[in-house]
Amino acid sequence: MSGERRLRIRAATEEDLPHIVRLDAEAFPSDPYPYFVLRQLLASFPDFVFVVEDGGEDGGKLGGYVLSTPPDAERSWILSLGIAPELRGQGLGRRLMTQILGHLRVRGVRSVSLSVEPGNDSAVALYRSLGFVPDPDGPRKDYFGPGAHRLLMTLSL
Ligand SMILES: CC(C)(COP(=O)(O)OP(=O)(O)OC[C@H]1O[C@@H](n2cnc3c(N)ncnc32)[C@H](O)[C@@H]1OP(=O)(O)O)[C@@H](O)C(=O)NCCC(=O)NCCS
Repeated sequence: MSGERRLRIRAATEEDLPHIVRLDAEAFPSDPYPYFVLRQLLASFPDFVFVVEDGGEDGGKLGGYVLSTPPDAERSWILSLGIAPELRGQGLGRRLMTQILGHLRVRGVRSVSLSVEPGNDSAVALYRSLGFVPDPDGPRKDYFGPGAHRLLMTLSL
C-alpha cells in the first residue's frame, strides 16, 4: 500500500448504497444481496454498516464494507464483509473487522457469529486469526439452500 494513500473507515451513509451494492457484487459474484435487501439493511441498521474509503480529492472511492446486526441479547451477526478485488491482501478486511468488533463490544455485545463458505480459505483464516471458533460440528449442510453449505463461526468478546 502506498504511504500516500489515505484510507479511512467510517459509518456508511445512504449515498454509499450504490457503491456497497457494487462491492457486494464484486465480493459475491454468484450470489450478491439484491439491491433492495442492502437498502433495507442499511435503513434498518445504519450504525452497523462501515465502509473503507480510499481518500482522494474527489471525495474518495469505497474499497470495502462490513455489515453487522445490532445486538440481540448481547449477540450480533456479521452479515457481510467484502473488499474490492484490487485492494485485497492489504489488511483492509482485518481493519474493517477490527473496527466493527470494537464498535459491537462497546455496545454490550458479548458474542459475534457469522457464516462462511467452508472453502473460503482467506475468510476462514481471517476470522480464525481474530479469534472466531468454528462450530465443532462442522459446516451446516444446505444452510443457505440446496448445496449452499456454510460453516458457522463464533467469537466471544
Ligand atoms: C475475505 C476478504 C474480506 C479478506 O479481506 P482482505 O482485505 O483481502 O484481507 P486482509 O488483507 O485484511 O488479510 C487478513 C487475513 O486474511 C487472511 N487472508 C487474506 N488473504 C488471504 C489469502 N489469499 N490466502 C489466505 N489467507 C488470506 C490472512 O489470515 C490475513 O492475515 P495476515 O495478513 O496476517 O496474513 C476478501 O478477500 C474478500 O472480500 N473476499 C471476497 C468476499 C468474501 O469472501 N467475504 C467473506 C465472506 S464470509
